[in-house]
Amino acid sequence: MAVLVTGATGLLGRRVVQQLLETNHEVRVMVRRPGSESVLATPPTDLCYGDVGDPDALAEACRDATAVIHLVAVIRGGPRQFDAINRQGTANVVEAAKAAGSVKRFIHVSALGASDTPRLQYLHSKWQGEQAVVSSGLPYVILRPSLIFGPGDEFTTAVAALVRTMPIVPVIGSGNNRLQPIHVDDVARCITLSVSGNIRGNHTIEIGGPEQLSYNEIVGVVARTLGRKARRINVPVWKMQLPVTLMEKITPRAPINRAMLQLVTLRNVAEPGSVERAFGFRPRPLYGNIDHVRSITAGQAVRINLGLSAGG
Ligand SMILES: NC(=O)c1ccc[n+]([C@@H]2O[C@H](COP(=O)([O-])OP(=O)(O)OC[C@H]3O[C@@H](n4cnc5c(N)ncnc54)[C@H](OP(=O)(O)O)[C@@H]3O)[C@@H](O)[C@H]2O)c1
Repeated sequence: MAVLVTGATGLLGRRVVQQLLETNHEVRVMVRRPGSESVLATPPTDLCYGDVGDPDALAEACRDATAVIHLVAVIRGGPRQFDAINRQGTANVVEAAKAAGSVKRFIHVSALGASDTPRLQYLHSKWQGEQAVVSSGLPYVILRPSLIFGPGDEFTTAVAALVRTMPIVPVIGSGNNRLQPIHVDDVARCITLSVSGNIRGNHTIEIGGPEQLSYNEIVGVVARTLGRKARRINVPVWKMQLPVTLMEKITPRAPINRAMLQLVTLRNVAEPGSVERAFGFRPRPLYGNIDHVRSITAGQAVRINLGLSAGG
């Protein structure tokens, strides 16, 4: 009787699989392509392949599963991908979980700020995914994390690439909007605790780290970690529309795309202490837990800034 993890190869999925194994769960992972499971620290014994657009693969993945942890989503691409993967893909996983008849708990990772406002394309698709879970009749826990950081995350890596190479770091908007970055291992712990049954009933829980930091402060924390000083220049959002559109069209991995541009100036914070209250532990702060940014070389930083590499 396994716990199925979708999106197991992602930033969060890799840590969720590891924590589940360390807490003696039977884990089944679903990955998209044969071979991509090699990113997992412990080779999975129960493995299946499939896309969230493939109902047959999902039926196979959910067979006899007692819990499903659904982590698949995309923030790259546009409305078509958001609809196919974040909304419809979630609905497909929910349907397969229901049809399996064995699933006692569905854990869905949404995003803080998930919204029924269609203009906010990514957040809207995450909200639509949530609706599929809420209306499924399955017992569920929906987690809405703020920004997730940790080894391999694209956000602190992108900021570090700018700090490492630019004499003046461009900040989109005022940079005063607050975020509540939460460590990937802390999000994974909330998920593992949700599986283990510490949370009863259906819940939608917003989670964030111990600090509500402005974007400017986050740039400062990254710079301090790199042992540098970051001078900043603020660039209005409207001035970034054209460069971001062009970069998204011509580079393989733009550090920011149009969907992200809609989000960078939004406030994105949970209630202070939300993780302590719901899960009984204190998440770790940003400063002191992003040493991975120190390993970015100048060459890698330039490639990240030019949209040639994710660098995560
Ligand atoms: N990262 C953040 O700051 C953040 C903040 C709030 C909420 N979240 C949410 O947390 C969850 C996990 O995020 P993450 O940062 O771990 O994402 P990620 O690193 O981009 O991983 C996404 C995962 O989804 C898989 N995937 C993508 N499209 C798929 C498809 N069509 N069929 C099957 N699998 C597919 C990817 O597989 P491949 O490896 O094959 O591409 C990968 O395993 C997502 O729901 C995201 O919305 C993330």
